[in-house]
Amino acid sequence: MANQEDIFKKVISHAKEYGYVFQSSEIYDGLSAVYDYAQNGAELKKNIREYWWRAMVQLNKNIVGIDAAIFMHPTTWKASGHVDAFNDPMIDNKDSKKRYRADVLVEDYTAKIESKIEKEVKKAAKRFGDSFDKAQFLATNPRVVEYQKKIDAILKRLGRSLENEDLADVKALIEELEIVCPVSGSKNWTDVKQFNLMFGTKLGASADSAMDLYLRPETAQGIFVNFLNVQKTGRMKIPFGIAQTGKAFRNEIVARQFIFRMREFEQMEMQFFVKPGSQKEWYEAWKENRMKWHLSLGMGDENYRFHDHEKLAHYADAASDIEFRFPFGFKELEGIHSRTDFDLGAHEEYSGKKLQYFDHEDNESYVPYVVETSIGLDRMFLAVFSHSLKEETLENNSTRTVLKLPAVLAPTKAAVLPLVKKDGLPEIAHQIVEDLKWDFNVVYDEKDAVGRRYRRQDAVGTPFCITVDHQSLEDQTVTLRHRDTMEQQRVAIAELNGIIAKEVDMKSWLVKM
Ligand code: GAP
Repeated sequence: MANQEDIFKKVISHAKEYGYVFQSSEIYDGLSAVYDYAQNGAELKKNIREYWWRAMVQLNKNIVGIDAAIFMHPTTWKASGHVDAFNDPMIDNKDSKKRYRADVLVEDYTAKIESKIEKEVKKAAKRFGDSFDKAQFLATNPRVVEYQKKIDAILKRLGRSLENEDLADVKALIEELEIVCPVSGSKNWTDVKQFNLMFGTKLGASADSAMDLYLRPETAQGIFVNFLNVQKTGRMKIPFGIAQTGKAFRNEIVARQFIFRMREFEQMEMQFFVKPGSQKEWYEAWKENRMKWHLSLGMGDENYRFHDHEKLAHYADAASDIEFRFPFGFKELEGIHSRTDFDLGAHEEYSGKKLQYFDHEDNESYVPYVVETSIGLDRMFLAVFSHSLKEETLENNSTRTVLKLPAVLAPTKAAVLPLVKKDGLPEIAHQIVEDLKWDFNVVYDEKDAVGRRYRRQDAVGTPFCITVDHQSLEDQTVTLRHRDTMEQQRVAIAELNGIIAKEVDMKSWLVKM
């Protein structure tokens, strides 16, 4: 079986080869952690965004959507805490001049010890065969217990130092563990410094009047500052939500793993405003709702799990991640946070404007509490794309590469293929494209043998192929081939629209929520 790294490499090369994701500015050797979505990628991304928007905005009477600007008044980021606290601890190696996240260097070190434990487990499993009890082995094998103790002690110290902002101790830890720079191999480190992740820019033409701005690091603040405008103009009653999708920017120090961690990315966020005291209930409800949304796409219940945060940010009273099994293991896909009244309260303080809601039922005004759901669109794209890419061995021992995207998200819903380029078959195929294009993205393809065309559509993720043959001339039927099962059925041309709609309509997927 291919290892995780090979699988991930295959995902990245497939995304390029089939027009999904390109490195940004590739002709200039690219820009690190910035990517462009190509002809199929843009469609897949749009469909994921639409699937989220419909579930959030269209299907909930009490949620409305907005589209706030990327530029915001700079005081926004003072109030939100991003100017003072949106930092990562970084360290430079003086020989290679490479910059690292100090905590990641330490975590990579513990991951190496972790892999030693895994090796011990594998060896023991082989030795003991069916009678092997993994839990007992982990708890009692002296070498493994020692490794685990070491990991726990390191991570505990790292956590404590970061929490106390004791950056000298983070450096001391790196030195004590004798961590070397992966590039130069040296231990010649600078001090650890905090590095703010926001990108700065300037608004205005002349140097003295220009205003320092930030590119937003999250879309949420555009919702908080518009809270009262939306509430009043939309005559919204609490509880209600405001949703938004849009670009966010973070100067990530360690930006790797393709589109998992990018410097320019897109978020889909929803802030739900509730009465203080009811936040726990809503937090649980949104956790459940969001998990159902993910499961409705049919990518396997076993590939998702919650990770409840024990250590909470100062403004949160509960937080959980929905993690997905990416090719490199379970990692955060979405966050659900109970953010109390921190943001609205801070904006009241910094702007001097009241951001309160008058509750007619209770005859009182209050700053609402907020439960937020926040998912990265690019990360969701990676989850869908990497999960869908399969290498299958067929009955005749040949292999096929197939991108089993949920049909509702697939960029192209059907490919129309005349069996041969003559005898009037292309004309019928073109007419089918003309009829279907009003409802679905469809393509026409007449190049190569039909078997090769099927493989091409499998690899790009098209759920249906429609083949026009000589029988079509006589009885107006075609062959409909299903991507996942490769089953073929004979159907009337007039029925095509209905059959495809049943499989790709958002409604038939979203009702599973
Ligand atoms: N408003 C809350 C917020 O921004 P976050 O946990 O920092 O919370 C939410 O980000 C989601 O945004 C993450 O779960 C992830 O899916 C996505 N995300 C965050 N940083 C990202 C990055 N550098 N590249 C791609 N996606 C990112």
